[in-house]
Amino acid sequence: MSLVLIVGGDDELAARVESTIGHQCVTLGADALQGDSTSFLRGLDPTVIPDAMILTSAVPLAASMALAREVAAVRPDVDLVLVAATEKEIMLEAMRSGIRDVAPSIDDPSLMAGLRSRLDARAPTSPGDPLKLAPKTTPVDFRSRTMTVLSPKGGVGKTSISTNLAVSLAQQSPMEVVLVDLDLQFGDVSTVLDLRPAHTLEDAFGPGAHDNLLLKTYLTVHDAGFFVLCGAESPAANDHVTAEQVSALVRQLQEQFRYVVLDTAAGLEDATLGALEASDDAILVSTMDIACLRGVRKEIELLDELSLMPASRHVVLNFADKQSGLKVKDVEALLGVPVDLVLPRAKEVPVASNKGVPLVVTSKSSPFVKAVKSLSKKIYDRARATEGKQGHKRLEVA
Ligand SMILES: Nc1ncnc2c1ncn2[C@@H]1O[C@H](COP(=O)(O)OP(=O)(O)OP(=O)(O)O)[C@@H](O)[C@H]1O
Ligand SMILES: [Mg+2]
Repeated sequence: MSLVLIVGGDDELAARVESTIGHQCVTLGADALQGDSTSFLRGLDPTVIPDAMILTSAVPLAASMALAREVAAVRPDVDLVLVAATEKEIMLEAMRSGIRDVAPSIDDPSLMAGLRSRLDARAPTSPGDPLKLAPKTTPVDFRSRTMTVLSPKGGVGKTSISTNLAVSLAQQSPMEVVLVDLDLQFGDVSTVLDLRPAHTLEDAFGPGAHDNLLLKTYLTVHDAGFFVLCGAESPAANDHVTAEQVSALVRQLQEQFRYVVLDTAAGLEDATLGALEASDDAILVSTMDIACLRGVRKEIELLDELSLMPASRHVVLNFADKQSGLKVKDVEALLGVPVDLVLPRAKEVPVASNKGVPLVVTSKSSPFVKAVKSLSKKIYDRARATEGKQGHKRLEVA
């Protein structure tokens, strides 16, 4: 059983949280935060160094952030959780301060479920473990899942799928998803999500970004509860970036996020190859036209030949409608592999991206949304499956 310290709580709150998360909770009043926070931490009984700390709204926000920064620097393995309004600025400062999750209420079910699952996954602190300076890396206490959305052709829906998939995964795992715009020249994720990033991929490939805390500051928080690493302003900014650099960046994000969603440019650019090298899932997107289907077939054959096809492959047919004159079984014959998901042509998809709000945020009933959610559920389930091997089942929503 892990130990959770609730700063700014009382015994009643501790009992309630304890019964929700199934781990031992102790509390400290907000007034315990006098003086500097490192001395607060060092002043704690070393036998009760917590595995997690919940900073409640009874603690002034600035004091919570300061304490979090100090704790993260000394004990980056302590899982820090903040109760505060989930406004963009607060979220960003929280993430910069090493806080793992933020929710407006301590009773927020996803906050509690997230903390519980992270604590369940980690080994408890051994009693008597002295307070020592730990290395500045966050230990991986979960298995991260990375997916690359790709296609040989442009305009087939890669960005629409990546952005909606990120939202859908974030609805299940808030603040545990990062979406990266790996369309290095003309990425439009920030436009489609109506984000004005302070930092972009250019910073993430720059000096110093191998530090996880610094890298986190380059991410932009989306209102739907996930992070985005937006594309650079200039198409030439990341010309020099190699496949190896992309793989290294993805692996760094895997240390911090349960889900990493990678949007890519058309074709097999170096960045896409680097993304695939670090991915668990390839989401291959085709439309129902023969040129695109032939391209996808060649892409699958090439990736198999290069041993770059991730363990899990999803063939997605987008813009599906009856006008093409092809049926799904014709498509499968042309591709030489089964289709996993059919996404219908839907006029609300471009309307949503023109508004800068992914369709999954605003609609539950659209067939496009239902199909994207079935893909995210499949990935979510696979991420949780210990075996990871399942039968090939088409998820079709017409
Ligand atoms: N199922 C769909 N029904 C209707 N419109 C769609 C659908 N999927 C995508 N679109 C629209 O098609 C256009 C291209 O989609 P998107 O930008 O997602 O493609 P892409 O493959 O990322 O393109 P690029 O290669 O240029 O990055 C957008 O206007 C998008 O809103
Ligand atoms: Mg795109």
